Amino acid sequence: MRYVIYGAGAIGGTIGARLAQHGREVALIARGPHLETLRDDGLTLRTPDETLTQKITVGGHPDEIDWRTDDVVVLAMKTQDTADALTALRSAAGDVAIVCAQNGVANERMAARLFSHVYGMVVWLPGTHLQPGEVIAHSSPIAGILHAGRYPQGTDDLIEAVAADLRASGFASQPNEKIMRLKYAKLLSNLLNIVQALSSGAAGDIVRAVRDEANAVYAAASIDFAGPEELADHVKGITVKPVPGFESRLGGSTWQSLSRGGSLETDYLNGEIALLGALHGVPTPYNRMLQAAAAEASREGREPGSYTPEELLAHLPTDR
Ligand SMILES: NC(=O)c1ccc[n+]([C@@H]2O[C@H](COP(=O)([O-])OP(=O)(O)OC[C@H]3O[C@@H](n4cnc5c(N)ncnc54)[C@H](OP(=O)(O)O)[C@@H]3O)[C@@H](O)[C@H]2O)c1
Repeated sequence: MRYVIYGAGAIGGTIGARLAQHGREVALIARGPHLETLRDDGLTLRTPDETLTQKITVGGHPDEIDWRTDDVVVLAMKTQDTADALTALRSAAGDVAIVCAQNGVANERMAARLFSHVYGMVVWLPGTHLQPGEVIAHSSPIAGILHAGRYPQGTDDLIEAVAADLRASGFASQPNEKIMRLKYAKLLSNLLNIVQALSSGAAGDIVRAVRDEANAVYAAASIDFAGPEELADHVKGITVKPVPGFESRLGGSTWQSLSRGGSLETDYLNGEIALLGALHGVPTPYNRMLQAAAAEASREGREPGSYTPEELLAHLPTDR
């Protein structure tokens, strides 16, 4: 089996680097200055225990990969980039197996429109990607927890083999029959990614309102999701430690996107709650508010942490 990591940033870069380090065949697909650095100098993974640079096969587009029947694609771009990537992938690779190593619950559904073998992966992996060619994995000795299963449910030989390769490469990973229960549970915490990225002050009331809306929406939509105790069982093993040469992890993945000046994933995190709210008649003004603020921040190139809670509240929809 060869792993083609499509989107070799914080998550994809860490997974790809560790799999390659442990003797698995890996190819990366990247773009922009990151692609150039990967081609010229290789991929550098920094962890609390080591700094490792490896030359790994890399392409700038699925057309540049010499596709094989034993390829498994690990999709690891942010969700707003998934649809375009899947279209390019199907055209170049045909009906290849896809593992969605991404937050939210939208990627699997997008992939299943185009591909027959789609797997969800829930990603607990504190990672950072701010500089071309470099990814940082902050947890040690286990870099991340990466349980996975077939979409919408079930397991099979392929995902068992993937989980075994990940375990052999420094991750915790188990096949899971109902992977989307875990992904819906994790989405609840990712609703706060944008608050952390934008907010400069105490935003406790906003956090509570966003969570209350999500819980109301899940109840109305009869979403099956893992409760806190079940979730706690799955996330044991993440231990964030200092990484030599890197001061500290300043923010999560949405914070990193904003500080790199890129687009934000918010429409697929808070936007999932807003969508479910629209479908099931539950108002979601606070999640909509965060989507509006995220769109503005990305459009105007705002600095992370540059919104007071009052400025966020100014984005509440007026017709609520
Ligand atoms: N970072 C974390 O700690 C963390 C933890 C848990 C889960 N997650 C989730 O994991 C997923 C990946 O997040 P991440 O933090 O790894 O994102 P990231 O650091 O931004 O990495 C994604 C990479 O994919 C690249 N990319 C996007 N579209 C591409 C395309 N068509 N062709 C080639 N490269 C492409 C991006 O390039 P550009 O920079 O040019 O856009 C970027 O280098 C997200 O769903 C995120 O929510 C992240």
